[in-house]
Amino acid sequence: MHSRIVGTGGYLPAQVLTNAELALRIDTSDEWVQSRTGIRQRYIAAPQEQTSDLALAASRHALAAAGVAPADVDLIILATTTPDMIFPSTACILQAKLGASGGAAFDVQAVCSGFVYALALADLMVKSGAARNALVVGAEIYSRILDWNDRGTCVLFGDGAGAVVLAPSETPGIMSTHLHADGRYRDILSVPGGVANGEIHGTPFLHMDGGAVFKFAVKVLAEVAQEALTANDLPSSAIDWLIPHQANIRIMDATMKKLALPMERMVSTVAEHANTSAASIPLALDIAVRDGRIQAGDRVMLAGVGGGFTWGSVFLRWQ
Ligand code: UT7
Repeated sequence: MHSRIVGTGGYLPAQVLTNAELALRIDTSDEWVQSRTGIRQRYIAAPQEQTSDLALAASRHALAAAGVAPADVDLIILATTTPDMIFPSTACILQAKLGASGGAAFDVQAVCSGFVYALALADLMVKSGAARNALVVGAEIYSRILDWNDRGTCVLFGDGAGAVVLAPSETPGIMSTHLHADGRYRDILSVPGGVANGEIHGTPFLHMDGGAVFKFAVKVLAEVAQEALTANDLPSSAIDWLIPHQANIRIMDATMKKLALPMERMVSTVAEHANTSAASIPLALDIAVRDGRIQAGDRVMLAGVGGGFTWGSVFLRWQ
């Protein structure tokens, strides 16, 4: 038994925030942000929107593409760093909003690698027969954990959600998954705050050592893609599409170069969406599937990296 993706979906909030608009509020420029990151704009959730609302829109889109009714979803794994609340999980809130009660539902917290982690877990559950129609979602509202006066971080992130439906298949589908973490690097990207005794302790805004994150990401994205190639006994030329975590175009380009892949084989949405953390890979996948770039038979490498530090790959054959 194998698993395969049978539908994809995405959702971006209505409000667009351009670099030029940001430059009116903080000491930055469109030229600086574009040249250092490739980002032109990001989407910002409306005040009444919650992460589960973004997830709901992306999930409905994916379920419609898959032709699967919400009532037939027996597993929801939702990757997020920005849950609606401490508990219940955003997956359970999504389940109720979808009208899909009864199956398992839980969140995965692996920051920007969250979707790859969630998809790897769903693959194991579908392959084992524990689930038949798995909804795997990455959804984030980073705009609420950014210090909008910190130009070193606030220009980099945006809000959004992406989702896939995973179902059993006689042939792969998902060919391999590899997950890693190294908590010794936990301090280079974090939100060092928490709630206890009714008070916020620490700093509830994203903190980052940009240079250290950059170097770490370039190293492990190429390594984890290479690990998947080795496991499948394939050369890098066998990758038709690389969908890396959409953090910074320079990190993504460097990964392509390390793998000796031509830039045309990379799916990139970072210019339009900025870094949407756990949502970045499923959003990019959905766009490349819907615009017809990804075709049946193509081999697609999803490679994530994020705070923790965490990283991982899902290598799949599109069917
Ligand atoms: O999911 C992973 C999330 N994190 C990332 O993807 C971040 C990875 N790191 C990066 O993308 C890059 O390190 C940055 C884009 C954050 C920074 O790029 P850089 O080429 O490493 O720039 P830098 O750190 O060398 O900064 C150069 C200058 C500094 O000024 P001084 O100290 O040289 O005078 C910064 O203060 O750029 C300044 N700067 C800015 N200037 C204009 C930092 N942010 C901005 C800004 N606008 N928004």
